Amino acid sequence: MSLDHDALEPELERIATDLDDLARFRDSAQPGWTRTVFSDAYRGSRQWTAELMRSAGMDVHSDPAGNIIGRCPGRNRELPVLMAGSHTDTVHGGGRFDGIVGVLSAIEAVRRLREGGHQLERDLVIVDFLGEEANEFGISCIGSRSIAGLLTVEHLGRADSSGTSLGSALESFGLDPERAIDNAWHQGSVHAYVELHIEQGPVLERSGTSIGVVTAIAGIERLMVSFRGRADHAGTMPMELRQDALVAAARAVLTVEREACGAPVHGVSTTGRIESRPGAFNIVPDEAQIWAEMRSVDREWLQGARRRVAETIAAEAEAQGVVTAIDWLSDQDPVAVDADVADHIAASADGLGLSWEAVPSGAGHDAAHIAHLAPMGMIFVPSVNGRSHVPEELTHLEDLGRGAHVLASVLERLDRTPTISRGVPG
Ligand code: GLV
Ligand code: MN
Ligand code: MN
Repeated sequence: MSLDHDALEPELERIATDLDDLARFRDSAQPGWTRTVFSDAYRGSRQWTAELMRSAGMDVHSDPAGNIIGRCPGRNRELPVLMAGSHTDTVHGGGRFDGIVGVLSAIEAVRRLREGGHQLERDLVIVDFLGEEANEFGISCIGSRSIAGLLTVEHLGRADSSGTSLGSALESFGLDPERAIDNAWHQGSVHAYVELHIEQGPVLERSGTSIGVVTAIAGIERLMVSFRGRADHAGTMPMELRQDALVAAARAVLTVEREACGAPVHGVSTTGRIESRPGAFNIVPDEAQIWAEMRSVDREWLQGARRRVAETIAAEAEAQGVVTAIDWLSDQDPVAVDADVADHIAASADGLGLSWEAVPSGAGHDAAHIAHLAPMGMIFVPSVNGRSHVPEELTHLEDLGRGAHVLASVLERLDRTPTISRGVPG
């Protein structure tokens, strides 16, 4: 006998209180809601999240990769579990919603199920994945990679600008890097994974649609390019004789931008950081670096973009007498959502009388890694003015409540569905 899904409607005031409480954990010396991975603010917030899960009646533990995992036992403990979750770290100067709403709405779903006296057949596992956002190590989604068996020794060796390795950073955070790379859940242990997230773009708001049913998560290619030229007196060295590393880097910024502007389908490209040395008015810079990324749900385009950008940057710099070295920091292929899970999300929205549309995700998500382990789907809720990764990031509580209702509803549906197929038909 299936449950009346109206009974799973979330309590908005409770979610609002949770959002406010979690927002208190931030680095007040930084703009917005800065709670980056391994920071003191993040450390404090992890205990808060674990406590919130406990107060919702879950058994809670932190795994070797620092994921906070809450488990709500089902009637049949032998069955593959249902998983939901997201992340609670933020970018520098970020907002109060990215990732956070996925964790809080999943906890609210557990509370609503319990309050209604409804025990699922399967265990429901809620995960607050460690460190989803891109960091100085160039490894985003640390926790979900670990659970999916995709965190490697090579990742642990990556260093930040102070020379600290990711492995050491994990250790200083009280975690066990060796066990974090040996933390993979078994294939078949997860029945399905569903993540609710803010859209972080303007599509749903513009079309006045309540729910985004995600079709695919963009792949990401991140690169760091070093430029080595020659330092000279800025007043005396004629322009045509210079080997200016910063000018070569500036050209590269435009090359990165041009690439996505010409993309036939979906493509975006960004240079997020540039540095040069020695950094004086009167010396031609001999060293520069850029950090850039390209994203698309179109694998072919992304692979072509990677090749074209690398070739053009190197050729243009060489013509100026500047030597380049390219470090590919991460490459994440686009990931298609499993159509079966997407159909269940759409059916849940229909069942609750909510409008929905199919949308791709330009942002990366823990779901892209958990997809290696289990059928995966994502629910998007509208972002005001499409803003995200900024303090102005906002999703109206009513919009969030609609998404949280769909999440609770689809978890209940998936629990009753014996087999969920993988892949995209056709
Ligand atoms: C994660 O927020 C990303 O950079 O897409
Ligand atoms: Mn996110
Ligand atoms: Mn983010």
